Amino acid sequence: MASGVTRPIGMFDSGFGGLTVARAVIDLLPAEDLVYIGDTGRYPYGPKPAAEVRGYAHELAWSLVRDFDVKAIVIACNTAASVAFEELAAELPVPIISVIEPGAHALSLTTRNKKVGVIGTVGTIASGAYQRALAQADPALQLTATACPGFVEFVERGTTSGDEVAILAEALLAPVRDAGVDALLLGCTHYPYLSRVIADVMGPDVVLVSSGDETAFALAALLTKANSRQETGRTGIHQFLSSGDVQWFADLGRRLLGPELANAQQWTTGGITT
Ligand code: DGL
Repeated sequence: MASGVTRPIGMFDSGFGGLTVARAVIDLLPAEDLVYIGDTGRYPYGPKPAAEVRGYAHELAWSLVRDFDVKAIVIACNTAASVAFEELAAELPVPIISVIEPGAHALSLTTRNKKVGVIGTVGTIASGAYQRALAQADPALQLTATACPGFVEFVERGTTSGDEVAILAEALLAPVRDAGVDALLLGCTHYPYLSRVIADVMGPDVVLVSSGDETAFALAALLTKANSRQETGRTGIHQFLSSGDVQWFADLGRRLLGPELANAQQWTTGGITT
């Protein structure tokens, strides 16, 4: 086993959404190595029963530990985190963080009128994870939480603008817009890719909050505390894996994340295959 310092960070999501978090981590911690698994072969997680998503989260997290010897794990998927975070935190031999706490914290600091919105998948909203995290962050917040089924599918197809997605956004965002929120958390890591459409519907007075940067800051703090930060001055190695079509993952992933996603490898429940 490599020393704590030189081991990679592990991250997973149901597909491309977690790349919004990966981008923030690569920018904030450029010296760190990263292993990212996108479970595109089994996405979307949002409409699936909690027990099924929990099973996937276990497989992915344990694969990162056993097959890639990661030093810490970031659950870059709200849906998986909302049903599996506590038990993974209890059983894994490495520290783990998710996007939920950092996102809730940022939202509570952003609002002025205390009326906040959270949008996410059906699974995330139904789990109550944000309702609990926000009540803890600031009990005075008035929360409107709304599921946005269909958003993730647009992103996974590579469609992030246009009439179809705008019409869906108008319909799905009506409850948070009508509630008069002044800050809206994108509680699904796929949604930042739709932020222009979402901002158009919500109007200029609503601040959109996404958890990527906050999660990267929380990860940096965690690594510093554990004395496992890489030396600066090196460029980290970034490895991307997908359980679905690897070429599609590399092509669309590069468009979404940037040039660091030069290629992708196949991931199966048994780990990596070449
Ligand atoms: N990106 C994931 C999230 O943050 C979910 C997408 C899905 O439904 O698979 O919740």
